[in-house]
Amino acid sequence: MNQRRISIAAPVFCGNEKKYVNDCLDTTWVSSIGKYVDEFEYKFAEFCQVKHAISCSNGTVALHLAMLAYDIKPGDEVIVPTFTYVATANCVKYCGATPIFVDSDPETWNINPKLIEKVISPKTKGIIVVHIYGHPVDMDPIIKIAKKHHLFLVEDAAEAHGAEYKGKKVGSVGDIGTFSFFGNKIITTGEGGMVTTNDNNLARLIRQMKGQGVDPNQRYWFPMVGYNYRMTNIEAAIGLAQLEKIEWHTKQRQRIANHYKQRLSVDPRLIIQPQMSYAKNSYWMISVLLSNDMPERSIVMNRMDQKGIETRPFFYPMHVLPMYKENQLQSSFPVANSIYLRGLNLPSSGSLSNEELDYICDSLLECVK
Ligand SMILES: Cc1ncc(COP(=O)(O)O)c(C=O)c1O
Repeated sequence: MNQRRISIAAPVFCGNEKKYVNDCLDTTWVSSIGKYVDEFEYKFAEFCQVKHAISCSNGTVALHLAMLAYDIKPGDEVIVPTFTYVATANCVKYCGATPIFVDSDPETWNINPKLIEKVISPKTKGIIVVHIYGHPVDMDPIIKIAKKHHLFLVEDAAEAHGAEYKGKKVGSVGDIGTFSFFGNKIITTGEGGMVTTNDNNLARLIRQMKGQGVDPNQRYWFPMVGYNYRMTNIEAAIGLAQLEKIEWHTKQRQRIANHYKQRLSVDPRLIIQPQMSYAKNSYWMISVLLSNDMPERSIVMNRMDQKGIETRPFFYPMHVLPMYKENQLQSSFPVANSIYLRGLNLPSSGSLSNEELDYICDSLLECVK
């Protein structure tokens, strides 16, 4: 089979993207005011089954806006999973506060709800959970803890558009949800983000803060220090077109995940991120753990690369990064420590054909020998 190079998560533009972007250019509405921003927000809120969706420049500032809305300050602590992308911890640091790390659940690799109460202190203000690689966190026990200790609960759903927890869309379960629309996400705007919430006051504050803090009723009156964290009409035009096709995008991810599960099951040493009974996984990344008796991950990745297949190592957990490792007892994170060096993300673009998936699976089975 004559293979093209298979990239890890190429976006697919199969809807009205070009038409809507051309409309922005034709009408000259290219900055952050325009009908596509309004419509993308409205439709995304509808999709997530929430009252408010507020667009912003990327998933990192979506998290920062969430922390600002809760007035996180130096001296405060916010609980985050150690196994995540760095933005989840950095948004706490941007506010001068301290992220407190919690180890992963051994099955899903998400934050382990059983470990959260142990790290709550008088300084704790809230919890950020992350639906890692698209698998929803077990939210009910964490909602209970948050209520008991009067903590906010933010869902970092950057990787989990369309995933569901007990039939509810992620981003609608906690107090605030945040999303990324980076080019490798399930739907993209190039760079972009969204904050979702059912809370009218939080929504009003976040909307004001992302637009330089301007008073919504008085132009050029700035009663607070705000930010320019806005999404452009061009980005929203792409986002709206992508959102119109989200059922297709999520169905492709499901098809791809089923294909991998079926083909890779011949080697039970390869552990694929499972789908728990309470969850509908969005399968942003198809993630596997190599077993200890397989060649080292870097060798497997090089071999795959030589076959024209891009793979990705798992994230480094936060407690090993230079700016966060101080004062961390490294042995407090046995699960994250045991997965991050063995984990591999496989290609998951919605454009992958079944023949390409067969080729990736055959290649992986050969490369781990
Ligand atoms: C879990 C998680 N949170 C936040 C982000 C940040 O999103 P962005 O790259 O749009 O700033 C990402 C990006 O991949 C992510 O994976």
